[in-house]
Order: sequence, then structure tokens, then C-alpha cells
Amino acid sequence: TRPFQVAIDGPAASGKSTTAKMVAQRLGFDYIDTGAFYRCVTLAALSKGIDPSNQSQASQISNLAQSSHIGLKTVFSTSPSSLPTTRVFLDKKDVSSEIRTGTVSKHVSAVAAIGPVREAVLQKVRDMGATSASQEGNSGRAGLVMDGRDIGTVVLPNADLKIFLVADSRVRAERRLQELAKSGSKEEGLDVETVQKDLERRDELDRTRKASPLRKADDAVELDTSHLTIEGQVDAIVQEVHRRQ
Ligand code: C5P
Repeated sequence: TRPFQVAIDGPAASGKSTTAKMVAQRLGFDYIDTGAFYRCVTLAALSKGIDPSNQSQASQISNLAQSSHIGLKTVFSTSPSSLPTTRVFLDKKDVSSEIRTGTVSKHVSAVAAIGPVREAVLQKVRDMGATSASQEGNSGRAGLVMDGRDIGTVVLPNADLKIFLVADSRVRAERRLQELAKSGSKEEGLDVETVQKDLERRDELDRTRKASPLRKADDAVELDTSHLTIEGQVDAIVQEVHRRQ
């Protein structure tokens, strides 16, 4: 039997990565953050002095997406309540903090809207999923949790469980700001309105783009996390996995 697949999609800062990581930790499944791939391609372009919003640079960015080597390493904790950490490597260099800066966040949706970039990332993500899922999880059955925007619709269309996380954009902005502050990567003077506007702009781009736009798969379960704690979200998903296993 193939590993149990959990697809988690939703708008920016809806708690996807935190939830997905904790679900993976609870179940002994692997975890793949697909947003990190688009962030790496964006960082690669910016470091080469390419302006991602300039449409004439699309083929150069697509070449970079193909040639870049992207690696993820998630360290799970033995305590179920502590947060696993994911390190991201671009051509062997640890870029975990660099890919979360405001500059990368600002340009990433333009990069993710380029069709050939998506094809290159899709290939890399599927390859990674195939290797990681060949190792058996602690649960006795290998499993995989992936989060992003098109996991349930494109990357894992036959996932055993699809979750679509939503939350009020103000709540999401507050959570993102707290997360940035906690990790020490909050930029001076950054306020909740700015973060909220940036999230809304990014969601709009992600929803309206031609290439695999952000949308809830028909068979996805929608979970509104505006009034849920992280533990509550994780419990709800873990229970749903047990029901379907
Ligand atoms: O999840 P995260 O916020 O890190 O994703 C950054 C950006 O990457 C998103 O705003 C979206 O434009 C893009 N993305 C995507 N498809 C995915 C994951 C991320 O288009 N599966």
C-alpha cells in the first residue's frame, strides 16, 4: 500500500505549516513544506539581481527553478507538544531565515505564477515525496503531510485526506507578526496592517493566477481556524486521519 497522504492547503498564514508539522510529528509521518520551494526560487532570482515582477525575466527564473537544488530537513521532537523545525537548503546553503524576509514574501507570488516554475517545482516536490515516503513512519505506516496552495488539487490529487484551512485575514496577520517576532525575523516598525495588506494581496494573486490557482479541492474538508488553537486544529486533523486509516 502507498503511504497515507495528507494534503493541507489554504491562504497565506492560515497556520498550514505549523499545523502540518505538528500533525506529521503526532503521526510519525514525513513533512514537506512546498512554499519553501517557491521561496527558494524567488531568493535565487533576487540574488542574481533578477526582478521577479518583470515578466520578461520569466524564462530566466524558470531556468533557475530547474537548476536549483532544494533540500528540506525537518527535525521532529520526542515531545508531542513542541514544534518541529524545518531547515531549508538552497544549493546546499542554509537559507531558512533568508526565505522568510519581507523582500522574498513580497515577490514570491509573482514567481509562483510562472507556469514553467510550477512545473519544475512540482517535479522536485514529487521526487522528494517519493523518497521520503519510502521510509516507514513511527505509526507503523509510512505517511506524508504536505502543505501549500495546490496540494489537494494538483500535487496529490488522490490524497487520503485533504484539508483546506481558512482564517480571518486580521487573525492571520496577527499570527504571522507574532511568529516573526518569536523567530527574531520581524523587521523594525512592521505593523499588523502592513502584514494584513501583504497577505491579502498575496492571496489575491494566488487565487486569480492561471497556473494551478489556490482553491479548495472538491473533496477537501474546510477548517476555519480563526477561533481554534493550534492544538485544536492538530487534534481535528489527527482524528480525521485515524478515521480514514
Ligand atoms: O506557504 P508560503 O506562504 O511559504 O508560500 C509562499 C508562496 O508560494 C505563496 O504565496 C504562493 O504564491 C506560493 N505557493 C504556491 N503553491 C504552493 C505553495 C506555495 O503557489 N503549493
